[in-house]
Amino acid sequence: METTSKFQQKLYHYGTFPQGFSWGVSSSAYQIEGGWNADGKGPSVWDTFAQKPGSIPGNANGDVACDSYHRFEEDLYMLRALRVKSYRFSLSWSRIFPDGLRTSLNYKGVEYYNRVIDGLAANNITPMVTLYHWDLPQALQNLGGWENTDMIDIFNDFCDFCFATFGDRVKFWMTFNQPYTIAWSGYGLGQVPPNIKNPGIAPYRVAHNLIKAHAKVYHTYDDKYRKSQGGLVSITLSADWVEPKDVNVLREVVAADRALQFKLGWFAHPIFKNGDYPDAMKWQVGNKSELQDLRETRLPLFTEEEKSFIKGTADVFCVNHYTTKIVSHVTARLSPPSYEHDWDFSESEEGDSPTTAISNQRAVAWGLRRLLNWIKEEYGNPDIYITENGVATDMKTTFDDINRVFYYKTYVNEALKAHNLDGVNVKGYIAASLMDSFEWVSGYTVGFGLHHVDFTYPNRPRTPKRSDHSSTSHRDLEKPAGW
Ligand code: NOJ
Repeated sequence: METTSKFQQKLYHYGTFPQGFSWGVSSSAYQIEGGWNADGKGPSVWDTFAQKPGSIPGNANGDVACDSYHRFEEDLYMLRALRVKSYRFSLSWSRIFPDGLRTSLNYKGVEYYNRVIDGLAANNITPMVTLYHWDLPQALQNLGGWENTDMIDIFNDFCDFCFATFGDRVKFWMTFNQPYTIAWSGYGLGQVPPNIKNPGIAPYRVAHNLIKAHAKVYHTYDDKYRKSQGGLVSITLSADWVEPKDVNVLREVVAADRALQFKLGWFAHPIFKNGDYPDAMKWQVGNKSELQDLRETRLPLFTEEEKSFIKGTADVFCVNHYTTKIVSHVTARLSPPSYEHDWDFSESEEGDSPTTAISNQRAVAWGLRRLLNWIKEEYGNPDIYITENGVATDMKTTFDDINRVFYYKTYVNEALKAHNLDGVNVKGYIAASLMDSFEWVSGYTVGFGLHHVDFTYPNRPRTPKRSDHSSTSHRDLEKPAGW
């Protein structure tokens, strides 16, 4: 895309998305459900981690969260009021298989999701289902979690069961939510379960298994369900936009591209391009490994057979996007081996909007348009769903979330520009999130919700924020039937 001036970036584009554009909101099981041990549910790694004192600010955990396990009717009411077309939520694996394996099947868990899916259907809301949003059954972590290659078959079996059980009504499946976070935050930084700090080694191995597991699940759907159920399968990747520090300096532009390859391309390149990691990654990690006198590269290799098994295993491109970073080239240290040291760039914040406590997240709406264009160019113009986009506010903001209103207005408009002006196949926009919920390592200190939830009351009252009211007007951005 040609460079746009600051003035152009700020211009509002008037237009509409085509009919059938998928407006939705998102959530995930551990963040909203609660009922952590209700009706036979087994513990997940997040139950274990968050219940341990000192893990999360205020010792918060998801034991009750929004209590959606007992209050789905209220969630449905909000979804109806929002008049969304789709609802993206995730299945709690250990609610369905308490110890992670089919032999432990818990009918009560299946019944819960049947109620959710049927409730949505009764209101013409399309379910978009994430099969894995980070809450691994603890029993499987005890077997080594995602470092264990057995997980590929074990996850496949869980997904197979879900396709067989819910696939008559669910037509939009995502295998993993943000595999980057699973691999890097879980096994590199060690900030989230299983809290392993082995950067430079474990994240690559884990990602390797996640990619193979994803591909296997895709083929299972293809072989056993696609013909009769006619749905689609993808994976939800995460990507901030990365802007070079200086677009006129080649090295900086290359560093920014490398950053995107390390973060998004790590998973997208094998799945959407050629079954293998991006060249930039293979080169960087291979080179560093050699300089470290290692006998082989720390980036695992795929066999030719694996490459053709992995290539093309997503029907659409799903991306979570929150902010934009500025990247600059640095020559990193070699030792100790570290994923961060492999990539040779440093990051800083773009834009001058205020940051939030959660992630130094700045509102840089034009970054979304650039990211969408980058995905279009890099991966051959796929259909794209923005499966999460949103901003956090503090918990004092119970109604007047004007920052969020502004954020959505500008980000949706940039998605519209990408669609109408740049020809990007944006098919859906899912706002994150339906309501305030357990925000992982930030506990309940911030909320992304269009609805406020008061976590001090046992019945977890939900109230719409100002952003909820303005979101319903997104409908106006869609062409009415018959155009
Ligand atoms: C992405 C995750 O998928 C979601 O669960 C989380 O709420 C947001 N990031 C915000 O931190």
